[in-house]
Amino acid sequence: MIKFKINGTVTEVKDDPETPLLWVIRDTVGLKGTKFGCGKAFCGACSVHVEDQVVRSCSFPLKYAAGKSITTIEGISNGQKLHPVQKAWIEEQVPQCGYCQSGFIMSTVKLLEKNPNPSDKDINNSITNLCRCGTYSRVRKAIHKSAELIKKEQN
Ligand code: FES
Ligand code: FES
Repeated sequence: MIKFKINGTVTEVKDDPETPLLWVIRDTVGLKGTKFGCGKAFCGACSVHVEDQVVRSCSFPLKYAAGKSITTIEGISNGQKLHPVQKAWIEEQVPQCGYCQSGFIMSTVKLLEKNPNPSDKDINNSITNLCRCGTYSRVRKAIHKSAELIKKEQN
C-alpha cells in the first residue's frame, strides 16, 4: 500500500509502485481532470503539483508520491470559489478543445507562486506545455490577468 494526500484527502492505493502517478490519479482515485497527452514528459497535459513542484505525472512513478501531498486541477479551487488562475482563464476564454488546459493552469499556479509578476520572457521560459490548438497567445494574456487577480485578492 502507498499512502499520500490528494487534494487534502489522505488516500491509500494498492497500485504497483512503478505505476505512473497519472494513472493512479485517473483510474484509481478517479479524478479525470489530469490528462494523458504524450506519455513522455514533453507536453505537460498531465501536470499536477507534488508538494511545491509541478510534476509531469505520466513520467512520475507512484513510489515517489509516498507520504507526499498531491494537488490536481480539482483541488485548486476553494469549494465553489475558483482559483484566480481559473477565473482569468474564463475571462480570457483561453481553451479551444480544452484538452491541454488543466496542465497549463497547474503550471501557471506554481509559476505565479514563485514569480508573482512574470514577464513574457519568464512565461516563455517557465511554461513549456504544448497546445495542439495553439492557444498560446491567450494563455499568455491569461497569465498576466491571473497575476493581476491574485494581487487584487491579496489587497
Ligand atoms: S502526458 Fe505527461 S507530459 Fe505529456
Ligand atoms: S486547447 Fe486544444 S490542445 Fe490546447
